[in-house]
Amino acid sequence: MKKGEQFQFTHPLNHVAFIMDGNGRWAKKRMLPRSMGHRAGVKNVKKIVDLCFYKYDIFACSLFTFSTENWNRPPREIKYLFKLLKIFFQENIQEFLEKGTRVVVSGDLDDKRIPDDVLTTMKDAIYRTKDCNNHIFNVLFNYGGRREIVAMTKKVVDQVQAGKLDARYISEATLKHFLYQPKLPELDLLIRTSGEYRLSNCLLYEICYSELIFVSTFWPDFNESDLVSCFKDYEGRNRRFGGIK
Ligand code: IPE
Ligand code: IPE
Ligand code: MG
Repeated sequence: MKKGEQFQFTHPLNHVAFIMDGNGRWAKKRMLPRSMGHRAGVKNVKKIVDLCFYKYDIFACSLFTFSTENWNRPPREIKYLFKLLKIFFQENIQEFLEKGTRVVVSGDLDDKRIPDDVLTTMKDAIYRTKDCNNHIFNVLFNYGGRREIVAMTKKVVDQVQAGKLDARYISEATLKHFLYQPKLPELDLLIRTSGEYRLSNCLLYEICYSELIFVSTFWPDFNESDLVSCFKDYEGRNRRFGGIK
């Protein structure tokens, strides 16, 4: 690729997910409070997601913003993260609408610990963008892969008990139907920043054949050139899906 030339995919990449990690360490390195790391992190979300959607034309983007385990953090940090998320939604809803980007939120939204104003802002964005079809922005919030599998199991059991589903015919397609986002394309690529080599309960069911990339950069520093390096790495992968290629 020559300087100034834009990266183009030759392999399809319809759905990318990010585990944005390292906000706290980014701040610590600069002797700033962790909250400043989160602030810089959320700012970077907009940059990276915009690039994925509008420059590299990726249809769906999932972003891990708060895990079911993140309740283990100090209440002040949780409160600040929620505040940032609320502002993020409020500030960007208009642009999502203009650009035809549908916002969906995946996670346990029945959790009573989630403040009402945060939930209302998210539900408003979901409702207002429900007919947008150019891109899908999937916000993983109070999300846990295991929690999703439990929710899916309960829904399947409900259907069976209500006589709407014959247990003998439960298939992979049946289960998929009861995921938080059954209509999203298969997850092609997952990128985790900050040098941690784990999934931390992210998209456990969906990740089956995704390509995984772990980079050492802290999320607030993850920029377009890092993103393009990930895309090039992805392009070089030989996705065999169990076959021979
Ligand atoms: C990721 O950054 C942001 C969220 C979990 C919301 P961290 O806060 O986990 O940053 P580190 O891992 O402590 O550096
Ligand atoms: C994963 O990051 C969750 C999000 C990015 C929202 P964590 O920082 O919470 O993960 P661990 O604790 O290092 O596994
Ligand atoms: Mg972390």
